[in-house]
Amino acid sequence: MLRGTVSMPGDKSVSHRALILGALAEGASTVTGINSGADVRGTARMLGQLGAPCDLDAENHKVQIEGQGWDGLVEPEEPLDAGNSGTSMRLLLAVCAGLDGASVLTGDESLRRRPMLRVVAPLRQMGAHIDGRRYGDRAPLFVRGGKLSGLDFESMVASAQVKTAVLLAGLRASGRTSVREPALSRDHTERMLAAAGVQLDRDGPTTVSVRGGSNISPMEWLVPGDVSAAMFFVVAALILPGSDVTIASVGLNPTRIAALDVLGRMGAEIEIRPAGEGSGEPVGDLRIRHSELTGTEVSPGEIPALIDEVPALAIAATQASGATVIRGASELRVKESDRVSALANGLSALGAEVEELDDGLIIRGPSQLGGGEVQSHGDHRIAMAFAVAGLATPSLVRVRDWSCVETSFPGFLDALDGVREHA
Ligand code: S3P
Repeated sequence: MLRGTVSMPGDKSVSHRALILGALAEGASTVTGINSGADVRGTARMLGQLGAPCDLDAENHKVQIEGQGWDGLVEPEEPLDAGNSGTSMRLLLAVCAGLDGASVLTGDESLRRRPMLRVVAPLRQMGAHIDGRRYGDRAPLFVRGGKLSGLDFESMVASAQVKTAVLLAGLRASGRTSVREPALSRDHTERMLAAAGVQLDRDGPTTVSVRGGSNISPMEWLVPGDVSAAMFFVVAALILPGSDVTIASVGLNPTRIAALDVLGRMGAEIEIRPAGEGSGEPVGDLRIRHSELTGTEVSPGEIPALIDEVPALAIAATQASGATVIRGASELRVKESDRVSALANGLSALGAEVEELDDGLIIRGPSQLGGGEVQSHGDHRIAMAFAVAGLATPSLVRVRDWSCVETSFPGFLDALDGVREHA
């Protein structure tokens, strides 16, 4: 069972953005509570190569950035390596597009398989020259940045990475740039730009625009705990009898927490206690008690606000009575791994009843999970999800390629051990 209080690493999405906005501002910014996993460290390193040094104190989760403004950025001497991080690559592509010079962006095997045209196409329309494998849809990518023009962009995917890349480039472009998305994706960029003095205009819930040349002010960013990381502890506490755990100070941005609604529908006892704000984001504590769960249907409309939580929800679904149906989640197939197939294969290996759909999963429970070996496919969220599955069985679950957990949650096992108790 899980008992006691546990803290999460800083929100990964907010951490990347705080570094990038700090680099684009003129003057010193600080970031407190930063996620010091490999993905965010990669963004810090790449910004340093672009001429904005980020002094990262990983032990104290603090960063000082000497922002140079767009004009102070320099052509990087070496390729920029985003490692496993899609956010780093897609957001820094926009920075490189606005830079007077050439850059090369690459990443690890998983990132080099992921689609980039969704960001490359609008940046090209704004005037950047970008090429790469598969006509620019796969890294390594070569970018020749320079003068950009504003764009009215309609995105085909509800993606915060696409929205953020176009808005960042829009700040460097002439005229106005707007982004319309099919459904609202996480809105950290909009909140953080507004906090840093940039005027944003909205036209309905899914269209946002910025004016070129707006200045970003240097800031003291306070990063809330990562609610996506918290979800593994939430699910573990829900499915382990006797659990009563509190997760302190996590971000509760409404565009990120649809998984809490879904779990609520499934019968989860989760108390949300508001506890102020950080970086323009609502923050609160979560108290979770073991609960009897029943299956539910997750609708396509809910997916954008829980896209990173499907691995954790899938584990909860194995312990819920009846069917849990998740549809409209084909974006999961182009994350750090193909998460639909990674979950379907791993869950079947542990004896769960699971059906793989093109765009989701059907899981029928409750099942007594058995032991076995599962592949993480180098995907941190798949690895952590199956670690939670391992807590729900008396048998041994072996997760292959475990070290990927370091990308978002260094110290995951220590945090888990800190609240684990034996009956
Ligand atoms: C992120 C956006 C999401 C999410 C990813 C982080 C971000 O991706 O899955 O983990 O920080 O903007 P998409 O924007 O591609 O949906």
